[in-house]
Amino acid sequence: VLGAVSITAMGIGAIIGGGIFIFTGTVAALNAGPAIVLSFVLAAIACAFVGLCYAELSTFLPVSGSTYTYTYATLGEFAAWIIGWDLILEYAIGGAAVAVGWSGYFVSVLAALGVALPPRLTAATGQAVTLADGTTATAIVNLPAAAVVVLITVLLVGGTKESARLNNIMVAVKLTVVLSFIGLGAFYVNTANWHPFIPANTGTFGTFGASGILRGAAIVFIAYVGFDAVSNCAQEARRPQRDMPIGILGSLAISTVLYIAVAAVLTGLVPYTELNVPDPVVMGLHAVGLAWFSMFIDLGALIGITTVILVLLYGQSRIFATMAADGLLPPVVARVHPKLGTPWISQIVIGVVVASVAAVSPIDVLAELVGVGTLFAFVLVCGAVIYLRHLEPDAPRPFRVPHVPLVPVLGILSCLTLIAGMTPWTWVRLAVWLAIGLVIYFAYSRHHSRLRAGK
Ligand code: ALA
Repeated sequence: VLGAVSITAMGIGAIIGGGIFIFTGTVAALNAGPAIVLSFVLAAIACAFVGLCYAELSTFLPVSGSTYTYTYATLGEFAAWIIGWDLILEYAIGGAAVAVGWSGYFVSVLAALGVALPPRLTAATGQAVTLADGTTATAIVNLPAAAVVVLITVLLVGGTKESARLNNIMVAVKLTVVLSFIGLGAFYVNTANWHPFIPANTGTFGTFGASGILRGAAIVFIAYVGFDAVSNCAQEARRPQRDMPIGILGSLAISTVLYIAVAAVLTGLVPYTELNVPDPVVMGLHAVGLAWFSMFIDLGALIGITTVILVLLYGQSRIFATMAADGLLPPVVARVHPKLGTPWISQIVIGVVVASVAAVSPIDVLAELVGVGTLFAFVLVCGAVIYLRHLEPDAPRPFRVPHVPLVPVLGILSCLTLIAGMTPWTWVRLAVWLAIGLVIYFAYSRHHSRLRAGK
């Protein structure tokens, strides 16, 4: 019984989180300069094509389990396994990436309160950090990032009954914070900071110039991750043929406008070269003398980012449970606690792994992994639309993607373009990750599959 407005709100709740508060700074400083607004536009274009495909699939196959289930129903078990395995990058690694961003804002809140955490315990293992006395040292571990994952895991194991109402409050907090940053910050923009709008490429692919905008789009793509989660609620939509496309594309459009506005204001507040910090939005406000206001943004960002970690870790456990129900993962993964009603064992395993990854990994590596994993899944979703149109051309589709196969093909091409903008190491990591998945499939899942057992 959800209408278009509720679905759009759910989408915004799942989309806006760490990405805008974290990557806007680093990408402007290292890749795109003020042209980061174009990076957000590029990433949004890819999402729009894919969003249309999600709208068709979600109303055609109104099941939960998202991309994994669509693939299972259309392309079969093997492809579904690959996608399920790949989605770990979107959900679990996404949780780790956003937790690292949370850590940056947490350190910033404490600093505002006069509490300084040891820098070597708040950054990825091996990263250079500046100590209080101005010397540099090597970080040991990112403790706050791991701690927030552990805390959220405890919440999720305890149950999620209150989560819907909490989500609405959090969405309101997030939007207030983002809108007030844009509204107040706009008065302090110094347009000189927008020149040069596209800084000249330094000779390295991805460092400013056109390739920098592309690399930037690949990194900030993580900020749009989450709109695909909206497809899960097709079953509850009042008029799915109308409300799902509005919900998916509407939440995407609103997020895009907000992201572009935040990026434009931020790069207008301070020269982009200074934005390579863990809490760029707060830093920007400090630079123009709005320190009093930055505390509010700091807290809002922390809350907003927290909910995104919660949504991602929750989503991961539910995808695992669906895969276990199909026999592709051990049954223990789907086991629900008799009193708490939550898949506690898998939630704890996910929590421990994600906390460990968050403790030792640099955020840019994580962000690109999330991006490449999600884009790979999107390519298959676009492919599934084309494939299903051939397989069942006359089946009733409450919502139809216009101009098939053109739109899904443009979706595939734009996702591949973003993947091409990533560092070659990211492609290697994706390949290694998928190879590990193949080994597990042939060593375990194939032999335990319910499909093969005829169950
Ligand atoms: N889109 C989510 C965020 O930016 C993952 O936090």
